[in-house]
This record gives sequence, structure tokens and C-alpha cells, in this order.
Amino acid sequence: MRLIVASMKGGSGKSTVSFNLAVWLAYRVPVHLYDLDPQGTLRDVCQDRSEQEIFPALPVSTTLEGDAPNTAYTIMDTSYAALMTFRKALISADVILMPVGPSQADIWSAQRFIDVCVEWSTPPVWAFINRADTHHAVRESDDAEAALEQIPYIKPLGVRLGQRTAFRRSLSEARAVFELDAGSKASYELNEFAKSVYPTLGP
Ligand SMILES: Nc1ncnc2c1ncn2[C@@H]1O[C@H](COP(=O)(O)OP(=O)(O)OP(=O)(O)O)[C@@H](O)[C@H]1O
Ligand SMILES: [Mg+2]
Repeated sequence: MRLIVASMKGGSGKSTVSFNLAVWLAYRVPVHLYDLDPQGTLRDVCQDRSEQEIFPALPVSTTLEGDAPNTAYTIMDTSYAALMTFRKALISADVILMPVGPSQADIWSAQRFIDVCVEWSTPPVWAFINRADTHHAVRESDDAEAALEQIPYIKPLGVRLGQRTAFRRSLSEARAVFELDAGSKASYELNEFAKSVYPTLGP
């Protein structure tokens, strides 16, 4: 399955999610990554991981050109800023995974992104709330998820990733949240999330 992690909004968590999902996959099946963002976040994290000799290693390409990797699972991290590459990657994917923050601005941005997807006839968009508030009294994430459900073309995954230090640490330490602490809440959330994206590959 060719999965692309994309959104219009910067900082929505694309690289964090691409990396954690890729490590989760790499424990189960061969996976190949594409870092199509000129910022090169994923490339840097994977290089760091390789220098620290953390296994499984994650092979990364930085262009869609060249030989296709011999793996059934690929994950692409993207940037809306590199528009031509972005469009090509979106159209070539099987599934678009969109992280959305729990705010009205993120919902508006999600709607704009869907307009572009419809115009480009892309594959369907699976959306989820990233950086969800972790206090039960705060309802912003519920409201954002309800708003997502109203947007045509979106399939809401119904699982969330919380606003957690572990996700921030995962990029800086080049380890998935379950490699940092298998018993953490972030680790549990990532596992539930990954199983909803790849239901045949759990637990
Ligand atoms: N669930 C989360 N909990 C806490 N921090 C998070 C979470 N997801 C992402 N972050 C933090 O938010 C910031 C932006 O995340 P990330 O770089 O993954 O976003 P991005 O969409 O790839 O950004 P860009 O558009 O710049 O490529 C980072 O500091 C990251 O650690
Ligand atoms: Mg990024």
C-alpha cells in the first residue's frame, strides 16, 4: 500500500506520524520511505537512526524518480510547498493520510485541502486528529472530529494521537514512541492508530 501523509497546514505532524508509522510497519513488513519535503526532516531522522545503529533501519528516497522499491509498503512524507512533487505523489498514492490539529483553523485548512484533492481526483483522504488535548474537560478535539465528519471525501479514522511529549521526543531521538517506552500512552495510541491504518498487520 502506497500511503502519503499530507496536509496543507505546516506543522500538523506529517513527519512525526510518517516516522512512527514507518517504524511500526518495519517491525512487521519491509517498508520504504520517501521524504519529498525539501526540509528533509524524515531524511535527517532516519540518518540519525542509522548513525545510532538503531534497528530496524529505514531506507529513505528523496525523489519519486528512479527504480520503484521492491516493497509492498511505502510511506511518503510531503510538503505542500513543493507543489509539483506534491501533486505527483498524491495522484500516485493508494491512500492519503491527513493529520488535523484540533482547531477551527486546522478544519478550514482541511476543507481547502479536500477541495484540491477533488480537483486533482486524488485517492480518498483518511483524516485523524493529531495533538488532541488530553484533558477530558477540553472538548476541542471532539468538536474538530465532528467537523471532519461533515467534510465530504474524508474518511475519519476515529482514532486520535494526543498532544504528548513522547511524540516530540520520538523525532529528536530517532525512535518511535514504543521504542522509547512501550508502556506509554503515546505508544498505546500509536498502536491503535497503526492498526486502523493497516488492519491486516496488527497487533
Ligand atoms: N502528537 C503530538 N504530540 C506532541 N507534539 C507533536 C505531535 N505531533 C507533532 N508534534 C510536534 O509538532 C511539531 C511539528 O511536527 P512535524 O514536524 O511532524 O509536522 P509537519 O507537518 O511534518 O511539519 P512541516 O509542515 O514543517 O513539515 C514538532 O515539534 C513535533 O514534535
Ligand atoms: Mg514535516
